Amino acid sequence: MFTLIDLPYKSLAPVISDETLSFHHGKHLQTYVDNLNKLIAGTDYEGKSLEEIVVASAPVISSAAEGAVEKSPAIFNNAGQILNHNLYFTQFSPEPSLSVPTGSLLAQIQKQWSSLEAFQADFEAKGVGLFGSGWVWLAADKNGELSILQCPNADNPVAHGLKPLLTFDVWEHAYYLDHQNRRAAHLKALWPIVDWNVVGDRYTK
Ligand SMILES: [Fe+2]
Repeated sequence: MFTLIDLPYKSLAPVISDETLSFHHGKHLQTYVDNLNKLIAGTDYEGKSLEEIVVASAPVISSAAEGAVEKSPAIFNNAGQILNHNLYFTQFSPEPSLSVPTGSLLAQIQKQWSSLEAFQADFEAKGVGLFGSGWVWLAADKNGELSILQCPNADNPVAHGLKPLLTFDVWEHAYYLDHQNRRAAHLKALWPIVDWNVVGDRYTK
């Protein structure tokens, strides 16, 4: 039985308004939790972790000529959305303990993008460029190599064998009350509340 995560802060305003945070966490995420609990009741998915459910239910592309075959799309979508939102909400802080990456994560970002600013510009551009609803991710492979993924809908790095480090939600429910259709303005505004201590821990653990 999955439950709604508690937020580790009371407010992220003015970057994310209290109204957006309340709807996003209390309504949207709660709905995914309720849906998944109903969908997995009495199935082989019951008792598994979110990551295990995401991997087990991930869409599989068939090599056969008839094309793509999906398995358990509703379970994948709801489990993915819980995992994605849990990672999203817990990476933020109104007063981040680290406001920029440090150590091996910073070194890898500088190696691949030349600077933190260049990485942030690339990340924002890929978030803006993602058509429709989804998530832009910073992910790491098993060798520590970083990549930015544009994942539609509920997709995430876990479904592709990668480690999720940082994500911005580009579903309109994440920003419409605050920025209406201005996704780029929302993404640019998020950097000051990213807690790079959390992101760095995800990279090194
Ligand atoms: Fe969301």
